[in-house]
Amino acid sequence: MSSAQGWTSPTVTLSNGMQMPILGIGTSQIGGFSQDAVLHALRDCGIRLTDTSKYNGFEAQLAEAIRDCGIARGHLWLTNKLWPEDYGYETALSAFHKSCSHMGVKYLDLYMLHWPDSMQPGHSNRQLRAEAWRALEDLYEEGLCRSIGVSNFMVHHLEQLKQDCTVVPHVNQVEYHPFQQPNELIEYCRHEGITFQGYCPLAKGQALNNPTIIQVAQKYGHTPAQICIRWSIQNEVITIPKSTKRERVAENCQVFDFQLDEEDMEAINKLHDGRHVAWDPTHVE
Ligand SMILES: NC(=O)c1ccc[n+]([C@@H]2O[C@H](COP(=O)([O-])OP(=O)(O)OC[C@H]3O[C@@H](n4cnc5c(N)ncnc54)[C@H](OP(=O)(O)O)[C@@H]3O)[C@@H](O)[C@H]2O)c1
Repeated sequence: MSSAQGWTSPTVTLSNGMQMPILGIGTSQIGGFSQDAVLHALRDCGIRLTDTSKYNGFEAQLAEAIRDCGIARGHLWLTNKLWPEDYGYETALSAFHKSCSHMGVKYLDLYMLHWPDSMQPGHSNRQLRAEAWRALEDLYEEGLCRSIGVSNFMVHHLEQLKQDCTVVPHVNQVEYHPFQQPNELIEYCRHEGITFQGYCPLAKGQALNNPTIIQVAQKYGHTPAQICIRWSIQNEVITIPKSTKRERVAENCQVFDFQLDEEDMEAINKLHDGRHVAWDPTHVE
């Protein structure tokens, strides 16, 4: 399984017809940015989706990987996110153009509102989210964002956006791993035509020591990380593990040559304990 052999990650069809890879590579702040790992994912492992955000601070490093990977822009899927300090119509447009410039690209495949709280004291979150979303709608209309989405949005945030705006988000990216399975939100998103994407599929490594995960890994002769990623993908969730190590990047991509039985899927489903390893947006108004 390598891109040298022509393999690339399978895709999921969004409500606008775009084909988004079901497996990508994350670029979170923790652990830093590894050019080597990202290039290995793109060049050798068939990965086409990179997930980043202005907040992570790696746009310039990613620009180098995009430039050096040798893959045509049209075959890559680049996701970036708007940070709340830029919510508002004009500020959102300006932040988008700056992010594109830092990444050395003319358009993004997916641009998201990163977090439901506007973090602008004295202003209404709902109003600022709607203003920022209208900017994303216009960027989508112009073709500068091929799809637009939200991240960390709960049902009440999505319901407000539905009342205030026109375009239904194509994707909602939310924490998702064996300990955090927001099934009601997933059901709501799917009902509304919003593709659900998960982040922190390994629970930042916490899931890898879980006895059930280890037991399932032994049964299939795969690693705990592969079991977590396979479980997520088998639940049709777009999955973006991050590693700074090339051997782990390769390992995390080798999840399409086996399938978990229903009883093992069920055993992992039972691991939900509601814990968050990133942020909890439940109480953001
Ligand atoms: N939208 C949001 O608000 C939001 C929030 C958080 C994350 N995200 C996105 O989701 C991505 C993934 O989340 P994450 O990076 O926080 O957590 P994660 O992917 O669940 O876990 C990453 C951690 O697991 C380790 N790891 C990776 N593969 C491994 C393997 N095969 N075996 C053992 N350890 C392994 C990594 O260490 P090494 O680097 O040492 O391998 C790192 O410490 C992020 O990079 C980011 O793009 C989005």
